[in-house]
Amino acid sequence: MTRSPSAPDARLSSRLGLTERVFAGPASRRLQHAVDDGMARVEAYLADELRATDDIADAAGRYLFEAGGKRVRPMLSLLTAQLGDGATDEVIAGAAALELTHLGSLYHDDVMDGADLRRGVPAAHAVWGNSVAILTGDLLFSRASQIMSGLGEGAMRLQANTFERLVLGQMHETVGPAEGTDRVAFYLQVLADKTGSLIAAAAEAGVIFSNASHDYRDPLLTFGEKTGVAFQLLDDVIDLSADPDETGKVPGTDLRAGVPTMPYLLLAERTDTASVGLLARIDDGVARIADGADASLLDGPLGELREHAATDQTRELAHDWSRQAVDALAPLPRGAVKEALTRFSEAVADRSS
Ligand code: IPE
Ligand code: IPE
Ligand code: MG
Ligand code: MG
Repeated sequence: MTRSPSAPDARLSSRLGLTERVFAGPASRRLQHAVDDGMARVEAYLADELRATDDIADAAGRYLFEAGGKRVRPMLSLLTAQLGDGATDEVIAGAAALELTHLGSLYHDDVMDGADLRRGVPAAHAVWGNSVAILTGDLLFSRASQIMSGLGEGAMRLQANTFERLVLGQMHETVGPAEGTDRVAFYLQVLADKTGSLIAAAAEAGVIFSNASHDYRDPLLTFGEKTGVAFQLLDDVIDLSADPDETGKVPGTDLRAGVPTMPYLLLAERTDTASVGLLARIDDGVARIADGADASLLDGPLGELREHAATDQTRELAHDWSRQAVDALAPLPRGAVKEALTRFSEAVADRSS
């Protein structure tokens, strides 16, 4: 198979610096090997699934898959599966189905956010147009459902419920809060729905498809969801990053398109003159961009927001959610898996890509 230079290799967990951070110490070496082997199997499974329909569908579907991606969700499934029988065939299939769901959501998300760049390459809609990008996302979702349907009714329910929450999260982000609603609380629920749901499902899939004790299910659901919120809060910080080479995305994509993110919402809660002034300049820039002005006119204000205390506060909030996620692991037995999950949650709240 021909891979683009940035395509993942067998040591996928090296992405995000996860290998070093999650598998520290000799006790976790065996665990790391198990996860790396599992990741290679998930990768082969995905490559196989994305070679199944017709030429245009396969080309469009493989496009973002081959462009890179951290594979955070399958890694989490493989980690939680170590609490049971490990990387069973069902765990590999379930992890692949959830990664396909994630992949499909990226095709749709870039249309909704008007994003130009994804995983370091032009977004799919910039290459094929909105219709093909949306249809490719739909195809990936159907493929994910087909895989889950082979794993039984529980798997299908997991897929359907997760997808419904993800879509509702995107919908609520799009329409925004009702008058009088607390905007930060509303937004945290959006994050839990659009991102936490899928990361929680990844944690759950590892438990149920490895036949691990059911006692682990609820703690890991809570762990996954809270880790997902921490992950998405950092995504909001990364949206302000000045380094597209590292993030693979255009800096400020969400804010320039008028999609509020946590640094913006926390800025809006401040009453000091400098914060009020910065907020007004961002709002003015968003309105002018919507009227057709060049998006670069927000470069200055977004640079200021990057250095503002509201962005530090977003980072602290991410750490807070990551700590709550780790607290949920209390019922798990002590050992390498619990340690790796703890580090996993800390790493996603402290990442730069
Ligand atoms: C991006 O997810 C979309 C979010 C839910 C934040 P990732 O940051 O996991 O994207 P890839 O898979 O590594 O490209
Ligand atoms: C993406 O959220 C969430 C889903 C695709 C469900 P964002 O729009 O914040 O993610 P990025 O920054 O484009 O990756
Ligand atoms: Mg987006
Ligand atoms: Mg979005």
